[in-house]
Amino acid sequence: MAMMKRVASTAVRAFASSGSSISSSILTRDLHASPGSKKIVGVFYKANEYAEMNPNFVGCAERALGIRDWLESQGHQYIVTDDKEGPNCELEKHIPDLHVLITTPFHPAYVTAERIKKAKNLQLVLTAGIGSDHVDLQAAAAAGLTVAEVTGSNVVSVAEDELMRILILVRNFLPGYHQVINGDWNVAAIAHRAYDLEGKTVGTVGAGRIGKLLLQRLKPFNCNLLYHDRLKMDAELENAIGAKFEEDLDVMLPKCDIVVINMPLTEKTKGMFNKDRIAKLKKGVLIVNNARGAIMDTQAVVDGCSSGHIAGYSGDVWNPQPAPKDHPWRYMPNHAMTPHISGTTIDGQLRYAAGTKDMLDRYFKGEEFPPQNYIVREGELASQYR
Ligand SMILES: NC(=O)c1ccc[n+]([C@@H]2O[C@H](COP(=O)([O-])OP(=O)(O)OC[C@H]3O[C@@H](n4cnc5c(N)ncnc54)[C@H](O)[C@@H]3O)[C@@H](O)[C@H]2O)c1
Repeated sequence: MAMMKRVASTAVRAFASSGSSISSSILTRDLHASPGSKKIVGVFYKANEYAEMNPNFVGCAERALGIRDWLESQGHQYIVTDDKEGPNCELEKHIPDLHVLITTPFHPAYVTAERIKKAKNLQLVLTAGIGSDHVDLQAAAAAGLTVAEVTGSNVVSVAEDELMRILILVRNFLPGYHQVINGDWNVAAIAHRAYDLEGKTVGTVGAGRIGKLLLQRLKPFNCNLLYHDRLKMDAELENAIGAKFEEDLDVMLPKCDIVVINMPLTEKTKGMFNKDRIAKLKKGVLIVNNARGAIMDTQAVVDGCSSGHIAGYSGDVWNPQPAPKDHPWRYMPNHAMTPHISGTTIDGQLRYAAGTKDMLDRYFKGEEFPPQNYIVREGELASQYR
């Protein structure tokens, strides 16, 4: 039945693209509106002993976005797990009959083409957060799935975290912290490579929601601000933010003391910072990447940090996640890496939980989502993923 629906919706899409006058809202309604009880599966990180420590800690598997009672009171089934890898994992058991899959970038369920093929009832994949690169978007589009995320939900959380990481690297903070823990006291070991942020050139690669918030936060530090993006801001906004547009990434990069990555992982951005591009960066550059680990060539970053070409690398995103114990970024010099945490502050969690609930509610009612939330819709990828 669900398969028929998917096939039917594909046919309707074909009809629509052949010039029919049916509005896309009716098509989406068709795609979404299928009454009855749904099987919804959520994949979130487990909190164990931390689950009870804060009633607002809704992003963990135990609290499951705080929507269990609401879903169950409407007759839906809600399965939640953190067990997402391998052929015998809990998620795999539910793939054949789930209707909706909710996951987060912090503990991503990888929605591969193979899983999509097995998921005959699947209609909707929701990202509780931002960044849906854990989903094979082409396969999702071909199967007629809707993929949506809670656009904007944790952008302040990430921008603040990036500012923190910039300062941690510029001031050479972590070696000082480790000295204290280890009972040492060696000012010179820190001071010989600690700087002020003022007067440095900071370039963001991607200036969408997070990139703009970071630039706004950097403005009072009196830096020289640059940005590269597919899209130039309008002159008024650019002026207010105080950043200069650089159309050519490779012209911008050699000017930067600090490079911050703020674009999604797409076919175009995957491996964008490879050996050659890193070689073009200023010697002693600092890099902050809270966007996605796979935008960097893993080994090129290790080599850059080892040679000193990259003087510091910080971020919270890895490839894959969770990062295996032997991931080389754990062991390279001059890094300030953490697990994937920047977008999952309690404030961020409350926002992406509310946004996920809102989309589920609209899905049950056959209503449209906010347009900026769609990543795959009616067989089409959002423009920056194409
Ligand atoms: N670490 C975290 O917790 C966390 C949380 C939220 C988002 N993120 C990551 O940050 C990314 C950006 O989030 P956002 O909310 O700012 O997204 P956004 O869509 O508002 O901005 C992305 C920007 O990147 C630009 N862009 C896309 N492809 C490009 C390319 N090939 N070349 C140049 N520019 C390109 C777009 O034009 C856009 O301005 C997300 O996709 C996600 O991967 C991480």
